[in-house]
Amino acid sequence: RNNFIIAIDGFSSCGKSTVAKALAKQLNFVFVDSGAMYRAVTLFFLRHKIDLQDTAAVLNALEQIQIDFVPHTEKTQLLLNGEDVSDEIRQMEVSASVSEVSAIKEVRTAMVAQQQKLGQLRDIVMDGRDIGTTVFPEADLKIFMTADPDVRAQRRYDELTAKGESISMEEVKANLAHRDHIDSTRSESPLRQAEDAVVLDNSDLTQEQQLTLVVDEYLKRKSL
Ligand code: C5P
Repeated sequence: RNNFIIAIDGFSSCGKSTVAKALAKQLNFVFVDSGAMYRAVTLFFLRHKIDLQDTAAVLNALEQIQIDFVPHTEKTQLLLNGEDVSDEIRQMEVSASVSEVSAIKEVRTAMVAQQQKLGQLRDIVMDGRDIGTTVFPEADLKIFMTADPDVRAQRRYDELTAKGESISMEEVKANLAHRDHIDSTRSESPLRQAEDAVVLDNSDLTQEQQLTLVVDEYLKRKSL
C-alpha cells in the first residue's frame, strides 16, 4: 500500500469531523465521514419502515442503497440513491435511531466493505467509531478524540439550533449519552480506543491547536 491512512475515532460530538475535514484540506487528502454513511442507511430504513429485527428485510434494504460523496468547495454532499440528504441525516429523528441501526451486523459488514474500498488507493482521513480498530487496523496514524461531556453537548446544541431545529439541551445530552452507550457496548466492532491511537482531548483546545497537534503527528510518521 502506497497511500497514507488517517483514522479518527471517538465519542459522539467530540469534533472529529471538524478536525478530519481541516486535516484533509491541509494535506490534500480525501475526507470520509463514516458516520454520515450510517446516518444515510438509517434515513432509508426510517423512510421504508424497515423492521430492524428482520434480517432478510435489512439485507434487502441494504442492496437498494447507494451512497455517494460529492465534494464541493463549501461542503461535501452525501447522496442517497442520487438524492442530496446532507441536511436531513443531521436531524434529530435520524440521530435518535442511528445507533440501533449501526449495531446491526449486516449493516456494519456492508458499510465497512465500502469504507475499505474508499481507502484502497488515495490518501484518506476517515472519522467514525471503529476506523482504527476494524476498518483500517493498519492505519498509518490513529487519533482517539475525547472531550468533556458538557462541552460536547453544548457544541451539538449550538450546531442544531443554528440550523433552526427546536430542541432542548436535555434532549441533546440524552441523545449523546444514549448513542455513546450503544456504540461502546454493542458486540459488533464497539467503539474503543485502538492500542496504538494518540489520544486527543480537545475540551480546552481551539480548532487550530487541534489541527497543529494532528499535523505534527502526521509529520512524525510521514518521515519514518
Ligand atoms: O459520527 P456521527 O455522530 O455522525 O455518527 C452517527 C452514528 O453512527 C454513531 O452514533 C454510531 O452509532 C454510528 N457510527 C458507527 N460507526 C462509525 C461511524 C458512526 O457505528 N464508524
